[in-house]
Amino acid sequence: MIIREATFQDLNEIWNLTVELIKDAKKYYKKFKIDKKTIKEIRVSVKNTLHDKNSRYYVAIHGGKIIGYILGVIKKRSKNKPEFPDYIDALERKYGYASDIFVVKKFRKLGVGTRLMTALIDWFKRQNVKLVEGHIISKNKSAIKLVKKLGLKEFEKVMWKKIK
Ligand SMILES: CC(C)(COP(=O)(O)OP(=O)(O)OC[C@H]1O[C@@H](n2cnc3c(N)ncnc32)[C@H](O)[C@@H]1OP(=O)(O)O)[C@@H](O)C(=O)NCCC(=O)NCCS
Repeated sequence: MIIREATFQDLNEIWNLTVELIKDAKKYYKKFKIDKKTIKEIRVSVKNTLHDKNSRYYVAIHGGKIIGYILGVIKKRSKNKPEFPDYIDALERKYGYASDIFVVKKFRKLGVGTRLMTALIDWFKRQNVKLVEGHIISKNKSAIKLVKKLGLKEFEKVMWKKIK
């Protein structure tokens, strides 16, 4: 298995896996729509992301096929926001956002996700990014375990209750 940066040739495979990721996320977001229109839009979004110099896909290849991918985006916080979390200092206004991560089911728990995340963090480091961040649904134990093993810490929880 190899991990490498994605190229434009990977567009369709990443597109398919992104659709799978969204189908998987329906466990948490019941109202996610995966109709034909959405699927088409995802392809456009993946294509645009492949062109964006602040974004990077890394892919895991096995038997000539992509069996997992990760997407990272370099973002910048605006200067005068008072609501910065306390772990952020001036240097870290530029930060790496770990966005999608997906591994095909039969290849899970073999370290692929960890290798993808490590490759992304290495790219962030080469871009002089000093902080990596991401959002995870509390119920997604596997994703939480993966990032915690890599040293990421939890900062906030969204609390909710339906009220009548
Ligand atoms: C989250 C995901 C990317 C993890 O990929 P992976 O290749 O299985 O991850 P790894 O094999 O590197 O696992 C990292 C750690 O998490 C643990 N882990 C992974 N899946 C687990 C599970 N279902 N239950 C318990 N532990 C799990 C692994 O055992 C490993 O810990 P260990 O080294 O102590 O054994 C994969 O489960 C996935 O694609 N899920 C669906 C998409 C998703 O939820 N993406 C995240 C959105 S934020």
